[in-house]
Amino acid sequence: MIPDLSVELCGVRLANPLVLASGILGTEAALMERVVRCGAGAVTAKSCGPEPRPGHRNPTVLHWGPGLINAVGLANPGVDEAIPLLQETAVRLKPFGTPLIASIFARSADEFGYMAARVAEAHPDLIEINLSCPNVASEMGRPFSLDPAATAAATRAAVNATDIPILVKLSPNVTDLVAIAQAAVEAGGRGLTLINSLGPGMVIDIESGAPILSNRVGGVSGPAIRPIAVRCVYDVTRALNVPVIGVGGVMDGRDAIEMVMAGATAVGIGSAVYWHGPEVFARICREMSDFMSAHHHRSLDEIRGIAHDR
Ligand code: SIN
Repeated sequence: MIPDLSVELCGVRLANPLVLASGILGTEAALMERVVRCGAGAVTAKSCGPEPRPGHRNPTVLHWGPGLINAVGLANPGVDEAIPLLQETAVRLKPFGTPLIASIFARSADEFGYMAARVAEAHPDLIEINLSCPNVASEMGRPFSLDPAATAAATRAAVNATDIPILVKLSPNVTDLVAIAQAAVEAGGRGLTLINSLGPGMVIDIESGAPILSNRVGGVSGPAIRPIAVRCVYDVTRALNVPVIGVGGVMDGRDAIEMVMAGATAVGIGSAVYWHGPEVFARICREMSDFMSAHHHRSLDEIRGIAHDR
């Protein structure tokens, strides 16, 4: 029997649990459609904010070995331009039945309300609120996700602005992630995306002695942080009954299965697309399916969160 990889995320059905993580391939509708044709179960657009932002100067992304480090600086065309792009993406994805997740950032709780209402005009299936970018602290201050009260305020503002379910993207760079996740859920967040990149970190070119990223520091992602992402998903889903997109260094089917066993409902794919291109979605699905067949699992429900009890 072919295992059933479909999942339900905040009332939205995905044919498989693999979600293109935000920021990996921008917002262009044609690219989002390509990712869907390559087998993604859902796609997340790059975070957009109220105004256009050029982001940081290059270099903004570096492959340093077992992971990536990035400081893109929330480059985006601004919400007025992002809405038609999201609308076009939604139209292109409709024949495939693949959900679109819009992603937003803002500088204040009220602005999260404004942004949620604006992107709702494009009718995405879900809205992810990015409270956790580690790369803009010098301009925007501490990320909301470092504090339960700030997380709750931003989440509540977004939830009150739209009927579209809100996913809250949190940071691993905290001492009590469960308390922050709980604040997001109590404020009406329907699901969580765990985790944004770790750090910030720094990579120095030892020939010149200079940090390589133009921003000097950036968020660390990729296989090097997968055990941290798995632990975050495990801790939060063990403590709270909330659907989670587990993101962080998933490169193959076994990594994705591990994320589901930690408690994830869906699995974000980011660095693997950077390394292997969008074709990686079909491969990871096939590897998940092979593992499940070999272990006689009929659906992901049978393995979700099993690590909690073992
Ligand atoms: C960036 O644009 O710098 C990355 C976005 C993020 O980590 O949330």
